[in-house]
Amino acid sequence: MNVLLGITGAIACYKVCTLVRLMKGAGWNVRIVATDRALDFVGEITWRTLSQNPVERSAFAESSDWHPRHIEMADWCDVFVVAPLSANTMAKLANGLADNLLTQTALACTKPLLLAPSMNTHMWQHPATQANAATLMARGAKMLTPAEGDLACGVTGTGRLPEPEELFAQIQAFCTND
Ligand SMILES: Cc1cc2nc3c(=O)[nH]c(=O)nc-3n(C[C@H](O)[C@H](O)[C@H](O)COP(=O)(O)O)c2cc1C
Repeated sequence: MNVLLGITGAIACYKVCTLVRLMKGAGWNVRIVATDRALDFVGEITWRTLSQNPVERSAFAESSDWHPRHIEMADWCDVFVVAPLSANTMAKLANGLADNLLTQTALACTKPLLLAPSMNTHMWQHPATQANAATLMARGAKMLTPAEGDLACGVTGTGRLPEPEELFAQIQAFCTND
């Protein structure tokens, strides 16, 4: 299983360290494409080491490979998972923007897309976010429902990224049913 894991700038980025460990433990090949903001939350070296692959962040980085990185990654993966998915990147995906390597790759990717949004309750419930989620689901993306509970921002409500074990189970179910 070749999993391309997109990571965006949400506080739940720390949970993705364990998620990557679980994916690797299952024998999956994991490559990470992270936004710049995601790398403000967790350092590149952590995800590089856990995934045993370079962390991709720019289509314009030096490379010995002539293939455009977003096309190469879109072709390589069996599934594209974005976890956590920020409200900002969700809006970009819903509108077809391609202003960073993650969004460029999503636009170029024809493989199954699984999205795990994670954000403050009011951000999640905002009509703009709900409309973006509906647009993406109507286009065939699988959207995981954020969990309820205490959020890092101090609010209690919907918006949590599921715990890594639960998230992994949901991704695994999606990949094996596909
Ligand atoms: C401490 C902190 C926590 C944040 N947590 C979230 C979050 O959980 N979900 C979210 O959608 N945005 C969150 N944001 C806002 C995003 O980081 C911001 O919208 C950013 O532009 C997202 O960029 P990206 O989508 O390119 O990764 C947070 C910002 C800060 C400063």
